[in-house]
Amino acid sequence: MTEKLPIAVLVSGTGTNLQALLDTVHGVEAEIVAVASSVAGVPALQRAEDRGVPTAVFARSDYPDRATRDRALAQWLTERGVRLVVLAGYMELLGESFLDRFPGAVINVHPSLLPAFPGAKPIPDALDYGVKVFGVTVHFVDAGVDSGAVILQCAVELPDARGPDEVLAGLRPLEHSMLPEAVRLFARGALMADPDNPRRIAIRAGEG
Ligand code: GRF
Repeated sequence: MTEKLPIAVLVSGTGTNLQALLDTVHGVEAEIVAVASSVAGVPALQRAEDRGVPTAVFARSDYPDRATRDRALAQWLTERGVRLVVLAGYMELLGESFLDRFPGAVINVHPSLLPAFPGAKPIPDALDYGVKVFGVTVHFVDAGVDSGAVILQCAVELPDARGPDEVLAGLRPLEHSMLPEAVRLFARGALMADPDNPRRIAIRAGEG
């Protein structure tokens, strides 16, 4: 590996997915050069600080509108040389003004098999629906809600799950391996949109 991909991780809470990235790809295929949170004082920020990664808070309430917040966030990440933005439990929408600064280079992890159960409470929604198969999607981010092209998906059968904690416990190991894997694939240029259908992301096989 010659160059490590400079990445930013955007968070809002606990940060277990950030931790998985810090423990796997950080310093190997990628370098986490910035962690930005939409909420001050969350455990995710402490996880970054513990590893010496620069952090900042961009709270929606500190800006007159979302577009201004997006521009400030994009500017901070650009100054740090970020080439991939990873949303890991980031509970805010990002508008075109942000996405245009990082074209094709913003990814998200979502705890459902999209397009089922997009939005802020996918696990309760899936439980309410009564599904027996749950899952995780890592996808590119577009201006919609969890609507970008799928990179990786993985399902797990939990036919007897009774509550969100039980489902989350089943999904965590998937999230924590899939998100680092997506970063590795991006870093080696292995993700390619099918020219005939840009919604289909082909994965180029690795060498060796
Ligand atoms: C994860 O379940 C992720 O899929 C969703 O938000 C949660 C974040 O968890 N987008 P954590 O902060 O990484 O622990």
